[in-house]
Amino acid sequence: MDETGRAPTKLDLHYVEPRLVALYDLENPRGPDTDFYLDLANEIDARSIIDLGCGTGLLTREFATGVRRVTGVDPSAAMLEVARSKPNAERVTWVEGDASSFGDRDADLVVMTGNVAQVFLDESSWAGTLEAIHGALRPGGHLAFESRNPVARAWEQWTRESTFERAESPYGPMECWLELVSVSPGRVVFEGHNVFLSSGEVLVARSELRFRSQEELTRSLDRAGFVVEHVFGSWKRDPFSPGSRMMLFVARRS
Ligand SMILES: C[S@@+](CC[C@H](N)C(=O)[O-])C[C@H]1O[C@@H](n2cnc3c(N)ncnc32)[C@H](O)[C@@H]1O
Repeated sequence: MDETGRAPTKLDLHYVEPRLVALYDLENPRGPDTDFYLDLANEIDARSIIDLGCGTGLLTREFATGVRRVTGVDPSAAMLEVARSKPNAERVTWVEGDASSFGDRDADLVVMTGNVAQVFLDESSWAGTLEAIHGALRPGGHLAFESRNPVARAWEQWTRESTFERAESPYGPMECWLELVSVSPGRVVFEGHNVFLSSGEVLVARSELRFRSQEELTRSLDRAGFVVEHVFGSWKRDPFSPGSRMMLFVARRS
């Protein structure tokens, strides 16, 4: 427990181990997701934005044009340390914590990117997060996030055979791959294997993700007081169809 009496968020090794944190941006560079969220913020003229699970802050810093109030919230001190070291980081307020750290913000937009929505494994933590986001938004403010569509069964590709990579890294040559551990209804456990070839050291990071269906997500948003405006199936805003790999939700606080 911390001084507030709350149990600290349990984080995967990916977001804690400094070498894995340093590799995050190499494995997750700027892409069409960044443009999607930036365009959305411009379209709705968002002046106040919260990036929940902001990680190393790639998108968070791009939001921060100077006229906006931008807050990046993440429970990982190591991810935030990388975020804070980057250009324009001083334009962002960085908060080490989770949705319970928001307070009342009157935000125009809250985003959860990089499938952050899938880290909330049980229904009470997901419902609690939506409730806190609702409280942080002004009436009519927007929430946008993406989540993998369980129907597309992305985890079937999370095998050594499909994901093996040998790459150069700041720590010398590395081999990396994913291994699926278990699949149960709505839950997938997998491991990221990282071999540092110079030292022979091996780091295995185990993760569990929650795969909610479109109906489950829509229902939970409805219960938390949101109106779903769009569910896209791609970063190019194709409409979601049952076989889409991703579900990109844009909802409004009713
Ligand atoms: C896949 S990364 C995404 C980072 C960033 N949003 C991006 O798109 O690159 C997932 C992030 O979620 C954060 N996270 C884990 N548990 C969380 C929680 N309970 N609340 C908020 N963020 C959490 C992790 O620390 C990590 O930085």
